[in-house]
Amino acid sequence: MRTIVAGNWKMHTDSTGARSLVGALLEKLEGLPNTVEAIVAPPFPYLQRVLDQTRGSRIKVAAQNCHQAEKGAFTGEVSAAMLADLGVQACIVGHSERRQYFGETDAAVGEKVAALLAHGLLPIYCCGERKEERESGRHFEVVTAQLKAGLGELSEADLERIVVAYEPVWAIGTGLTASAQQAQDMHAHLRGLLRSHGSKVAATVPILYGGSCKPDNAAELFANPDVNGGLIGGAALDADQFVAIVRAAAESIG
Ligand code: PGA
Repeated sequence: MRTIVAGNWKMHTDSTGARSLVGALLEKLEGLPNTVEAIVAPPFPYLQRVLDQTRGSRIKVAAQNCHQAEKGAFTGEVSAAMLADLGVQACIVGHSERRQYFGETDAAVGEKVAALLAHGLLPIYCCGERKEERESGRHFEVVTAQLKAGLGELSEADLERIVVAYEPVWAIGTGLTASAQQAQDMHAHLRGLLRSHGSKVAATVPILYGGSCKPDNAAELFANPDVNGGLIGGAALDADQFVAIVRAAAESIG
């Protein structure tokens, strides 16, 4: 099973900041074993520069979103084909901020996944329940529905080429983290849902945890058998913190 630590920069940094962050990451990752895939997801305007800066290194570059259509009159949007053309390797889709602020539906997110796969990009499919859904005990139900609606149409072969990120919305940017047990329980549930598409799918798809994952809780989260790394927001903007999380992931796999 692959282990991945991906940094979602959201709408942060500028060209100078992106350059120095990537420079520091390249330097600090040097001493770490290559067993963990390190991905950064800068804002669109910086993708090309970050691709240039990371070429030939262990850092992969992801976008934070794409449009599902191949091309067309969709002002302001970016297609999977364009990302592939640039050399971008992965793309986050269905992040809760996209769902919440931009009205993205499971169906649209599912189409984005298909578009990315068609262009050979790695989709990082986000799911996760809101606070009130967890409090009313509906978290498994909500995440099951998201996974089914977003990924249900994919073939086994396609499913083997995705990454799932479980991000409880109440934990994103709040400093509240799911406990190691809460994370493992949901990840095991997700693994079970993937297994219904075949044992190879369940054994191949990494499930990342996201939501206030920091250097001081990463080791505990990654020690869970079904947590295969993290999707990191705030801590990804600090090279020392991001690298500490990559180190925790490397140590979790020994
Ligand atoms: P956070 O964000 O680490 O700042 O909570 C995670 C995410 O939104 O991917």
